Amino acid sequence: MTPDTRTRKLVCLTGFMGSGKSTIARLLASQLGWPNVDLDKRIVEAAGLSIPEIFARQGEPEFRRLEHEQLERIVAEFAETQKPRIVSLGGGTIMQPQNFALLRDHGAILIWLRCPVEELLHRCAQITDRPLFRDAASFRRLYEERLPTYQMADYCVDSDAEPARVVEQILALGIFSQVTA
Ligand code: S3P
Repeated sequence: MTPDTRTRKLVCLTGFMGSGKSTIARLLASQLGWPNVDLDKRIVEAAGLSIPEIFARQGEPEFRRLEHEQLERIVAEFAETQKPRIVSLGGGTIMQPQNFALLRDHGAILIWLRCPVEELLHRCAQITDRPLFRDAASFRRLYEERLPTYQMADYCVDSDAEPARVVEQILALGIFSQVTA
């Protein structure tokens, strides 16, 4: 399906942990002069706790509830202002059907940052703030489980490259030239 990009100015980056969503969203937004919203950061600000703290003290279901609540806010802000924005989602956000439906209902464009699992493992092994990164086997399993959902995104861009190169690929999709801010 080709999204109608003239009326869809809510562009969301999805992809597994370590695929570069926050970094790419920041760079892309600054090149476009659009605001950048980071869903994980919104959750941390709202909860007053880090993501590992939310998982450890309140559990994953509470994290998912907060994630949905903050996504609803982001979407409501967009619906109210109709101002374009780049949103970096969490790796599990679109796995919740209600989140996927919410984004679809508001005409969001979903871009999947695809990256080979071995590269993701390499990147995430060096970072300790991901509660869902336990060991290589469960990481690979979760990746496989999630692939079919990521494949439902409107666009796919390979993100096992330098961030600037990934941004170039996203700009080359041609979806921004048709968007009127
Ligand atoms: C999660 C990914 C994390 C964060 C939370 C859950 C997931 O975001 O939202 O730890 O379910 O994959 P990143 O994808 O930015 O690491």
